[in-house]
Amino acid sequence: MEVVIRPNAAAAADLVARVIVMELRANPRLVLGLATGNTMEAVYARLVRLHVEESVDFSSCRTFNLDEYVGLAVNHVNSYRHYMNDRLFLKVNIDLQKTHLPDGMAQDLVAECASYERLIAANGGIDLQLLGIGQNGHLGFNEPLSAFRSRTRVEMLSPVTRVQNAPLFSRPELMPQRAITMGVGSILDCRRCILLAVGEEKAAIVAKAVEGPITSMISATALQLHPECTLVLDEAAASQLDGADYYRRVFEDRLEQNVFRAAAASINKDDIQTGRQFEDNRDLLGVTPGESK
Ligand code: GLP
Repeated sequence: MEVVIRPNAAAAADLVARVIVMELRANPRLVLGLATGNTMEAVYARLVRLHVEESVDFSSCRTFNLDEYVGLAVNHVNSYRHYMNDRLFLKVNIDLQKTHLPDGMAQDLVAECASYERLIAANGGIDLQLLGIGQNGHLGFNEPLSAFRSRTRVEMLSPVTRVQNAPLFSRPELMPQRAITMGVGSILDCRRCILLAVGEEKAAIVAKAVEGPITSMISATALQLHPECTLVLDEAAASQLDGADYYRRVFEDRLEQNVFRAAAASINKDDIQTGRQFEDNRDLLGVTPGESK
């Protein structure tokens, strides 16, 4: 596991977007695993901007999202399909046929989960999986007690998740009780994982994910088992890490170049300090945070 700490949320999101773009340029047919939530909005805004300003080409890439609510139609404002179309897919030159989310309206949910796994495998597996982290440490919707070998399945949402996400629905009671989620095992099979977490409210769970014991009570601790996993944090989200200074030195002193070092070097220092790029992105795109998580 590698921990990269950036000065602020804008710089953290910027770094993740840059890494995705570098990987996409190296392999236009990249299979991207995508995530939703407020944290990802800044990454998608940045990707849209890079598409417009630097002609980043999404036409050949394929995407698989982590999860989808059960019982929400694709055009429901709180569905993750709506979120992805709104934040990214309809703003870049991606082929919608190559974008995939589980179908939360499927008659046979068990068959839908199995077919989602088959589709990922048929596309050669996921090259780069983007992850957020829930307040309880969930990845996707892998709630406490999710087996580390679990695959895509229907999961009952935990009380903590319901409290976290219900306010995003016009009436909290409209929030579905269940979701389809890729399993922890499905996530561990991805070739590279990048988890982005920002803000003080993520600091305690990030510390548990990175430095705590591995436990199925906190799905994110499974990432300690992944050989190519990077956590990108802002200072606030990193503030409860005992080893923060050491992780910083590891990143700065790295002798071999890696994609994160290269991406960090490509970002203008003034923009990092002021967070200007992030604010510009949001203005440019008219992004309203927190509409549909
Ligand atoms: C939802 C998603 C998760 C995501 C989490 C974090 O629960 N299912 O995949 O990690 O939100 O959201 P936020 O970035 O808003 O904190």
